[in-house]
Amino acid sequence: MNVSAGAHGKPLRAPRPALAHALAASVDFQRYFHWRRARDGDPFLVGFPGFGGGLFTGSPAGARELLRAPLELMVPPLPNPIEPLVGPASLILARDQRHRRDRALLAPAFHRARMTQYAEAIRDSVREEMDGRGAGPPWRPGARIDARTAARAITLRVILGAVLGIESPSRRAEYIAAVMRFLSTFSEPLMLVPSLRRSAFGHSPWDRFLAARDHLDTLLRAEIETRRAACTSGTDILAMLLAARYDDGAALTDDELLDQLRTLVVAGHETTATVLVWALYRLHRHPHALHRLRAELDPDAEPLAALELPYLDAVCSETLRLHPPVPIVLRRLTGPFTLCGVELGAGDTMGIAVPLLHSDPAVWPDAASFRPERFLERHYGPFEFAPYGGGHRRCLGAALADYELHIALATILSRSELALTPRYARGPRPLSVPHNIATGPRAGITFNVLSRPGQNRDLPHSSF
Ligand code: HEM
Repeated sequence: MNVSAGAHGKPLRAPRPALAHALAASVDFQRYFHWRRARDGDPFLVGFPGFGGGLFTGSPAGARELLRAPLELMVPPLPNPIEPLVGPASLILARDQRHRRDRALLAPAFHRARMTQYAEAIRDSVREEMDGRGAGPPWRPGARIDARTAARAITLRVILGAVLGIESPSRRAEYIAAVMRFLSTFSEPLMLVPSLRRSAFGHSPWDRFLAARDHLDTLLRAEIETRRAACTSGTDILAMLLAARYDDGAALTDDELLDQLRTLVVAGHETTATVLVWALYRLHRHPHALHRLRAELDPDAEPLAALELPYLDAVCSETLRLHPPVPIVLRRLTGPFTLCGVELGAGDTMGIAVPLLHSDPAVWPDAASFRPERFLERHYGPFEFAPYGGGHRRCLGAALADYELHIALATILSRSELALTPRYARGPRPLSVPHNIATGPRAGITFNVLSRPGQNRDLPHSSF
């Protein structure tokens, strides 16, 4: 990447050796960003072997410049590490007129007003997990819970219900197995090193990924075909997309539908799941915050009431601040643009390092501490706090994610008492590593179930 001198007058050079930097970033993304800001100031260049480089900023002024840049100058970076997952027609990869058109078609399905219809499904998905009807054991006193497995299962059920309207347990199990296989075969090396995407007579990691994707696509194509043939309407997102028409009256083709459905399933569950895990972890490392939150919860309240609780809202925001699951917001330029005093040209990539933005000392005093109260004391602007990105590409599922986080946390905490297992209660914080579309804890964080405050309330005794 060819850029001129930075605002501080020093020439900006891509860091060398490139591979060592890529490795350092993949071991601990957040620490790498902090180290680069301390070493090189803001903005700084980062190289991604196989994907080119990018100029990154973590300052509110830089974020404002990037998110307010003229739309016609910005497209998503291609090649993109997640392209094999989401597919070429995905909204995430669409540009220009096509992005505007597809976003207008998909956005109504994710409008905040529509999210209320998912509130009960979110609570039920949490209950299912806690009852032992999901991915893990029942949350009985003495049980050990892997929070990452539980959270993924909870959010995957929600997104499958919202997007495809799947209710039958056997069909849902079939989809869950297909999605899990699809995601687990897309390993970090395959994502980050395009040259590894090679076939070897059906036996390479890439072959296994393609087979898993084909299997998921077969299920999704059958779903699309059945729905088209039955001409039935429904309230799920697939029904909305089948009925949707572009301005010229055209409908989405099956291939386009397939890529959008895969995008929503992929983008719509691991992101939210990792935030849920971090929220549980942080709360249990900060007993005063857990205590204050519990005092706010009413176990008998309707799920939607969780959206009205100020401290719960602050806990969700503080977790998103410290653990943004999508830590970089990227744009590729189609023409000249100046970011933080650095002149960039067509083809250059610029990005926001979200963990740096969320720890700018001028905005966030004592930035490393988990202190939800800060969100009750002050309002933060869209260029200071941007876990969902911003501008014309702001996360489409932000409202759904907010509903899930609030309702899932309220349901879990009002129905169980958990304790981190000793390794996590006392040990260092687990590293955050990229996995598919989201960055999350390297290992599943484990909890022991101590008691079930809600066990008499809405579950049969026989299940415990
Ligand atoms: C806590 C959970 C989530 C976080 C933190 C998150 C974060 C993000 C971020 C940072 C972006 C890029 C925005 C930009 O470039 O300015 C994004 C894009 C996107 N997200 Fe999310 N996301 C979450 C959950 C979801 C969910 C639940 C869905 C869908 C159901 C979803 C669907 C999408 C889509 C389709 C895009 C691409 C939008 C576009 O390019 O126009 N996300 N998300």
